[in-house]
Amino acid sequence: MTIAVERCNASRVTDVDFNNIPFGRIFADHMFEVDFLNGTWQNPRIRPYGNLSLSPALSCMHYGQAIFEGMKAQRNSHGEIILFRPRENWKRLNFSARRMQMPEIPEDLFMDALISWVKLDHNWVPTSKGSALYIRPLMIATDDYLGVKASTTYKFLIYGCPVSSYYTEPLRIRVEETYVRAAKGGVGEAKAAGNYAASMFPASRAQSEGFHQLLWTDAVEHRFIEELGTSNFFAVVNGELYTPETEGTILRGITRDSVIQVARQQNIPVHVQPITTDQLKDWFDHGELTEAFATGTAATIAPIGIIQFREQIMNLSPSNPITTKLHSTLDDMKTGKQPDIFSWNVEIGR
Ligand SMILES: Cc1ncc(COP(=O)(O)O)c(C=O)c1O
Repeated sequence: MTIAVERCNASRVTDVDFNNIPFGRIFADHMFEVDFLNGTWQNPRIRPYGNLSLSPALSCMHYGQAIFEGMKAQRNSHGEIILFRPRENWKRLNFSARRMQMPEIPEDLFMDALISWVKLDHNWVPTSKGSALYIRPLMIATDDYLGVKASTTYKFLIYGCPVSSYYTEPLRIRVEETYVRAAKGGVGEAKAAGNYAASMFPASRAQSEGFHQLLWTDAVEHRFIEELGTSNFFAVVNGELYTPETEGTILRGITRDSVIQVARQQNIPVHVQPITTDQLKDWFDHGELTEAFATGTAATIAPIGIIQFREQIMNLSPSNPITTKLHSTLDDMKTGKQPDIFSWNVEIGR
């Protein structure tokens, strides 16, 4: 499919202070847009970033058929732009689409749109260490109809914003045992907008108590650790990694999978298994829980400093040798300082 391109008159990139970028507020000049009508994706186009004109009866606003992805374009040490494992985002988007009764996006449409848009807005990919162009693919249901049924029309968009680190200090998290993020059979493993809506109230309570994030537990017994609001969870116990399985309720994080592969390649044992809150407490009480970290595209690999479980505050040491090593290895693979042994980088020029 040919992508029509309408360029903006004047780029806004020169107005941006790349040393001081607020997360998610300043958008690159252009966006990609394509519509699903009469059973096919039609009229792919790139146009200046701007508002959409939509019906007040738009079905996604009532019944929540809205899914998205989060990914990054970064520069390697030669200044070339790389996308990190973009086909994994494409696969997960289609997984979410199937679960939410939305149409899948063909791989070539997704990749062509992504690469064409990033190339056009290449000046928005920052150069400084740790910064990136955060990319948001988004699909919404667009029927203007008030009956509860799957929409017949959809819009798929790609746009993005330059970002630096999401977290600037070790995370303070609290184990949540009252509210539920996701239940088996629900949509927790899809990247569906409603998952985030449901977490806002409990998360804002935790934030008002000084925590960055909640550590969600299972919906039935609140005994098994699941994930954080925007990232997956890892514990480092006696030098080995533990992370919960993702079957059913947990988003299959691409950073999580990358960390597992890098750790195994470095002979760090990784245990993908259920972790109970009691087990976590036990590890901490016996001095075996030396580090914990969160993984996500926005969060990258963020060390956890404090885990509150009921009355107990687990203070983890600020020295995080394994977390730091995994973080720098993954960064070095993206920036070309270490070989990309898993062929994860898609280079798209400058
Ligand atoms: C709920 C949730 N879990 C985990 C992740 C981490 O996923 P990824 O590493 O693919 O960004 C994210 C971020 O996308 C998320 O929103």
